[in-house]
Amino acid sequence: TSSHGAGPFIAAIDQGTTSSRCIVFDRDGRIVSVDQKEHEQIFPKPGWVEHDAAEIWTNVQEVVAGAIEKAGITSADVKAIGITNQRETTLLWDKNTGEPVHNAIVWQDTRTDALCRELGRNVGQDRFRRETGLPLASYFAGPKIRWMLDNVEGLRERAEAGDILFGTMDSWVIWNLTGGVDGGHHVTDVTNASRTMLMNLHTMEWDDKILQSMDVPAAVLPEIRSSAEVYGQVKGGVLDGVPVASALGDQQAALFGQTCFSEGEAKSTYGTGTFLLMNTGEKIINSYSGLITTVGYKIGDQAAVYALEGSIAVTGSLVQWMRDQMGLINSAAEIETLASSVEDNGGAYFVPAFSGLFAPYWRSDARGVIAGLTRYVTKAHIARAVLEATAWQTREITDAMTKDSGVELAALKVDGGMTSNNLLMQTLSDVLDAPVVRPMVAETTCLGAAYAAGLAVGFWPDTDALRANWRRAAEWTPRMDADTRDREYKNWLKAVERSMGWLE
Ligand code: G3P
Repeated sequence: TSSHGAGPFIAAIDQGTTSSRCIVFDRDGRIVSVDQKEHEQIFPKPGWVEHDAAEIWTNVQEVVAGAIEKAGITSADVKAIGITNQRETTLLWDKNTGEPVHNAIVWQDTRTDALCRELGRNVGQDRFRRETGLPLASYFAGPKIRWMLDNVEGLRERAEAGDILFGTMDSWVIWNLTGGVDGGHHVTDVTNASRTMLMNLHTMEWDDKILQSMDVPAAVLPEIRSSAEVYGQVKGGVLDGVPVASALGDQQAALFGQTCFSEGEAKSTYGTGTFLLMNTGEKIINSYSGLITTVGYKIGDQAAVYALEGSIAVTGSLVQWMRDQMGLINSAAEIETLASSVEDNGGAYFVPAFSGLFAPYWRSDARGVIAGLTRYVTKAHIARAVLEATAWQTREITDAMTKDSGVELAALKVDGGMTSNNLLMQTLSDVLDAPVVRPMVAETTCLGAAYAAGLAVGFWPDTDALRANWRRAAEWTPRMDADTRDREYKNWLKAVERSMGWLE
């Protein structure tokens, strides 16, 4: 009954922050089938966020089987599988048993704040910026590894003896897919490695000096590979024998899926958090405006392509918080209905600094605030402030991009779950004072991983063939007058100031 032909196909796994999914694509980059499963969010203390990696691996196996079954195909129809993942989330496991030694510490977790300040003492937050492109912040993986080595009894000795493996979720999934304790490949790709704060952006290798400063033994680290090449074959399960042929952090995968292959092209993905990446070509551009420098992708032997990134920790997860913790809405979609029932925010501003503030501030001491409250404010105004928070955070990032690159934003390519919210997309266009454009396939994360895997096995010839698949589905244009925009921006910035300085 579906419109796709007889195949062959490419599959992609997206191991995300709140769920894992598998999507099967055809040669036109169209979705053939999807399966998805959420996993538990574990909040042991304020500011701490963990995942159970064993649960995640079980879910990944289930969604792969589910997507293949829904597509009505077998492993013989699948030319390759690609991996994309939530970045920075850190896991250590025993290579002899395959068992995690601790829950994974999620990228949103702030427990390494004191450690990061200690590492930056007398030198500042930019101690490793030249090598890694990153400021010292609790967001990145390196300090999370160190935390586990310091806090799990006996772990450092086992790690130094070579019994422990580190990985972000790409490594964990690939190691398990390719056999686990029975010969699994311990690898990561350059995009994921660039988020550890342990990889040198210039050499694409682990940086010995940083490993020493961070006190992380090299024995735990995976091999760094390109984003598009065959790492090994799936061992067991419904895809037995299929080549595992790509790995990209989810935001880099979205850049790839949006076909931002030329210098200056950018996209912004609205998921749990929001991440705006701009392709800067083969050049490593240092930011002076609070952005970070990261690897965009590397296709096989070709030169690496770099990107500037503006990372926002909390956007979609604020809507989830309104639903799960506050009970103000029953479903994520309801936020739009509630927010649309009022004309404006009623004077309220919500700064969701739940994981501190990421770009452009990098303040781990920030915490969430709602400012501007009067008796007049209803939950509908708060709902509106929730959506506006996503828009204003994006505006701060595009301002920083303009400062660093000298290029004014002509239009913003968007994707991700939140882009189905029309009010949000209109508000975004209003505060950016620029058109906002969404492609036909809004699942650009999986699509990017599929594209990279397909390139690696010759399913698609080159990036031009991929560009031809990109089609515009929707566009929003600015309607807000300049005075309102300026006033609202000032108020937003006032609220941001109030969110800082909550530690000590
Ligand atoms: O850096 C964190 C990012 O990779 C998480 O993405 O889509 O799971 O919010 P997402």
